[in-house]
Amino acid sequence: WSGWRGIIEEYRHRLPVSESTPVVTLREGGTPLVPAQVLSERTGCEVHLKVEGANPTGSFKDRGMTMAISKAKEAGAQAVICASTGNTSASAAAYAVRAGMVCAVLVPQGKIALGKLGQALVHGARILQVDGNFDDCLTLARGLSENYPVALVNSVNPARIEGQKTASFEIVDMLGDAPDIHVLPVGNAGNITAYWKGYQEYAADGTASHTPRMFGFQAAGAAPIVRGEPVKDPHTIATAIRIGNPASWAQAERARDESGGLIDEVTDRQILAAYRLLAAQEGVFVEPASAASVAGLLKAAEQGKVDPGQRIVCTVTGNGLKDPDWAVAGAPQAEPVPVDAEVAAERLGLA
Ligand code: F0G
Repeated sequence: WSGWRGIIEEYRHRLPVSESTPVVTLREGGTPLVPAQVLSERTGCEVHLKVEGANPTGSFKDRGMTMAISKAKEAGAQAVICASTGNTSASAAAYAVRAGMVCAVLVPQGKIALGKLGQALVHGARILQVDGNFDDCLTLARGLSENYPVALVNSVNPARIEGQKTASFEIVDMLGDAPDIHVLPVGNAGNITAYWKGYQEYAADGTASHTPRMFGFQAAGAAPIVRGEPVKDPHTIATAIRIGNPASWAQAERARDESGGLIDEVTDRQILAAYRLLAAQEGVFVEPASAASVAGLLKAAEQGKVDPGQRIVCTVTGNGLKDPDWAVAGAPQAEPVPVDAEVAAERLGLA
């Protein structure tokens, strides 16, 4: 049997692993690159969606986690720890199970989507809810990893960035070259850092003819990079990117500047509009934070910052099933209509 083997085996020669690295994998990566017809028409461009919600735990974190957990296991770690707005904890918990390791997670109290909390719980992670935001959780997790024998698997761990850069490789491999623009939501800023590294590596050895401009979008209530200063009390309905002091801030600015890109903000209203458009018109169900990339693309296009005819990839980072409350709340039909079997055809307008 041969099939997709996960990002470490598929891109082994481009990753810091050796023969002696134990590969802990759920066969992550190899996610769909979906042409987006409505977005293409709206922008006059050729827009594709990199659907990272199709990863094993439903987000892009799995690319980084297969690397981080494999390297931690190689180093002899028996336990891992992370701070998380939800997806990192879900991914760490699952990969820790595969590795036979203990997983501890620190999450901001009441501010993580139920689906993500459920994942961490069902995979047996030890969960601490911190009376604070993600930034407080990360400070705590860093301290614990420095003082106790537990490996930190947040994106400040370089192995995470290495794994996540493979998304850029897949895009170039599928399109035949790099896109003109790549659009991402930005939270802790690890992913934009990783994509930029991947694109640069492919351009450096000629696998791609150029690098794309990197466009990153933060939620307006949690937009420290746009504001130029940390946000003490970040707020947004996109809980995954509710972060006031991103760990990879400087790297994100470097990706923006070196690529001739931009980092801007989108309002919760714009995020939810893009979230609904993706589901209702492209058939792609993402979580709200993921829609920040698409909201940002639409904003930039309206502002004339996107030339027509460009080839654009938007990463949609996480699966809509993780946080379905927003789907139900804003649905065109408020609730399912109860009917007797006999009248179903009538009520559906079929009879
Ligand atoms: N989209 C989703 C769905 C996320 O979960 C995250 C980050 C991001 C975008 C932003 O990526 O942090 O690399 O800039 N989630 C982290 C977590 C913080 O804990 O799950 P970033």
